[in-house]
Amino acid sequence: MSEKLWGGRFEKSTDEMINEFQASINFDRRMYREDIQGSIAHAKMLARCEIISADDAEKIIAGLKKILAQIDAGNFEFKVELEDIHMNIEKALTDEIGEAGGRLHTARSRNDQVALDTHLYVRRQVREVQELILALQKSLVDSAKKNLGVIMPGYTHLQRAQPILFSHHLMAYFEMLQRDFERFCGAYDRANIMPLGAGALAGTTFPIDRKFVADELKFDAIYLNSLDAVSDRDYILEFLAAASILMIHLSRLSEEIILWCSREFNFVELDDAHCTGSSMMPQKKNPDVPELVRGKAGRVFGHLTAMLTTVKALPLAYNKDLQEDKEGLFDAIDTVKFSLAVFAQIIAGMKIKSENMRRAVEEDFSNATDLADYLVKKNLPFRQAHEVSGKIVHHCIERGIYLKDLTLDEFKTFSEKFDADIFSAINPETCVNARNSLGGTSIKQVEFQISEACDWLSMNS
Ligand code: ARG
Repeated sequence: MSEKLWGGRFEKSTDEMINEFQASINFDRRMYREDIQGSIAHAKMLARCEIISADDAEKIIAGLKKILAQIDAGNFEFKVELEDIHMNIEKALTDEIGEAGGRLHTARSRNDQVALDTHLYVRRQVREVQELILALQKSLVDSAKKNLGVIMPGYTHLQRAQPILFSHHLMAYFEMLQRDFERFCGAYDRANIMPLGAGALAGTTFPIDRKFVADELKFDAIYLNSLDAVSDRDYILEFLAAASILMIHLSRLSEEIILWCSREFNFVELDDAHCTGSSMMPQKKNPDVPELVRGKAGRVFGHLTAMLTTVKALPLAYNKDLQEDKEGLFDAIDTVKFSLAVFAQIIAGMKIKSENMRRAVEEDFSNATDLADYLVKKNLPFRQAHEVSGKIVHHCIERGIYLKDLTLDEFKTFSEKFDADIFSAINPETCVNARNSLGGTSIKQVEFQISEACDWLSMNS
């Protein structure tokens, strides 16, 4: 006789290779806590609704707690022939407490059970991811505060464009992460719906109380359509989509840090403890961590694409295809959490080479817009001011000098409107602080961003 919990209608036992192919125990075992938590709530409900006796429910709950302790302690043997976490635990329970264990699965199918476990798991993981997002945001704010006043070139087309505060640049990532945090709130809300009670697909003939289970497990809502309850994987897609966008952001910051670490930029240096060397070139100090995060982004996008493809055109209700929802999800969770955690450290340990950033601003023309704006403020139309400033830049390039090296007389040969105040107008501090429009790069605006960020952090921590 087969050991299978569904063995009744079969004459042969399952082929060994097929067993292995269809088993999910090697990956869904990480939901054991949720499986037991869900089963305890289900058993309580069954007793409350007098579907099983209070005595049986007590035995079941005690047995499940014992199994939980065994798994926690690493003293549980998972069996591939028992397919998945649900049947591994149910079989162990029946071995432990006898007949009562066989009553646990009343009014339940693995289809709504696995949906319940995964909802619980995603809900918990979303919160952990959000904690790590907050921690990274804190390290960005800390560095933005500490380096307030450091000026660097801001870029468009990767060409020096206008001077900005380094803190302004960091705070841009804070904002992206804030949206990520909010996107994960959406994934949480969609995971926070209780599917148990859907049975295999159509509900159950037993007088169950789904509201009780939802309250026990702190769900805010209950699926009102049993077919949807067992087939919905939107919350997983949303998690993966939120994770993918988060990884986009981390990959952009990674790329910038990698560039900044290069000899060509030389704007920052990562802590020795966060870098690795080369086995051949003795001088190398490589920014492997941001490189790896940049690389891992692709892997998370892959999981999103895989899941979209798995669910696409899948008929209702449960199909075994849906078992493919887990490995990608789990790997995305691990990847995102690890990446966030290492990134917070990278930012905290990153040395800012403010003199080099300053030199990059001084030895270039990123103040040319301010030259034009100066003339506009002296009542020259912007188009003309742009033309005059362009000519001045061209003149300087030909002579191998910068705007600040010109004399007032030289300025005047381009326009009568130039006065002695032109020199302060094009100095980087003036350029930065003049951009005092809401969201601009002035110290005042960046301080405002930082203080809003701190308020938001304390509201969400
Ligand atoms: N291991 C399965 C999964 O992860 C559980 C549900 C199986 N249901 C079934 N009818 N085969 O999706």
